[in-house]
Amino acid sequence: MSTHNHNPAAGTAVVTGASAGLGKIYADRLAKRGYDLILVARRGDRLDSVAAALRAAHGVKVSTIVADLGAAADLDRVAAALAADSSVTLLVNNAGTSTLAPVVQTSQVQLDGMNRVNADALARLSHAVLPGFVARDHGTLINIGSVLGSFAIPGSSIYSGTKAYVQLFSLGLQAELAATKVKVQLVLPAATATDIWEISGVPLSALDQATIMTPEHCVDAALAGLDMGEAITLPSVEDSGLLAAFETARAALFAGAQSGTPASRYQIKG
Ligand SMILES: NC(=O)c1ccc[n+]([C@@H]2O[C@H](COP(=O)([O-])OP(=O)(O)OC[C@H]3O[C@@H](n4cnc5c(N)ncnc54)[C@H](OP(=O)(O)O)[C@@H]3O)[C@@H](O)[C@H]2O)c1
Repeated sequence: MSTHNHNPAAGTAVVTGASAGLGKIYADRLAKRGYDLILVARRGDRLDSVAAALRAAHGVKVSTIVADLGAAADLDRVAAALAADSSVTLLVNNAGTSTLAPVVQTSQVQLDGMNRVNADALARLSHAVLPGFVARDHGTLINIGSVLGSFAIPGSSIYSGTKAYVQLFSLGLQAELAATKVKVQLVLPAATATDIWEISGVPLSALDQATIMTPEHCVDAALAGLDMGEAITLPSVEDSGLLAAFETARAALFAGAQSGTPASRYQIKG
């Protein structure tokens, strides 16, 4: 039965990768919060069924854009649509893909796919909505990174590289937008039970089952972090002091690099 949560003041939320996994849950939770939705992914049939269910359950307006965010013309089309839509108040850059294999065993198509979808499209769609957000001094950008964005293991080089891009792009944006009311949240999930694992070539069954979160828990925790005003949300990390220590070390290392002279260990003696 429809509960008609529609809240015109919330505006429109765009969710990329809304046909499955975390994006599908984000779409549901944002519809519950009263947002109208624009859902983006390649599989139009899946987007249509997600859209129909959310319209029926929540009474919100849902439109879909079928697009391959790894294809330049499609990305241009989505970016133009978002830039032109002043009702957009929230963008969840969630679409992502993964091949977990050594670089020498990764095809060029897989390499380009990860770079284009995980990094290029995320930056491009952020770039499309942010001028409007800044002009209106209102808007929220949620970028989905990964804990693998600050930790690379054999087989994750390319994926980790794309997610490192997401991290520093988002942290830089937070600094650039600090004086505005525009919010940028960086979400860093660890293993979550979605199709991306099968797609990556590493089935979920190969993981330690105790390390896997449900997508519902992941998105609900991430939205709780957003509500708390967090800049960086790590849904599965209990000890929040770990992130504080990591960011302190990152800043200390950068400050320590501003010496203008080679470190003494690199100076030739005698
Ligand atoms: N699951 C995890 O363990 C985990 C951990 C850390 C971070 N993440 C990140 O979470 C995000 C969501 O992933 P997920 O786990 O929910 O995976 P998923 O279930 O495989 O969903 C990925 C979504 O991205 C869309 N997508 C993939 N390639 C696309 C393309 N070329 N153009 C447009 N849409 C595309 C897919 O839709 P179509 O196939 O219909 O296009 C799908 O809706 C990703 O950024 C992922 O890197 C996941």
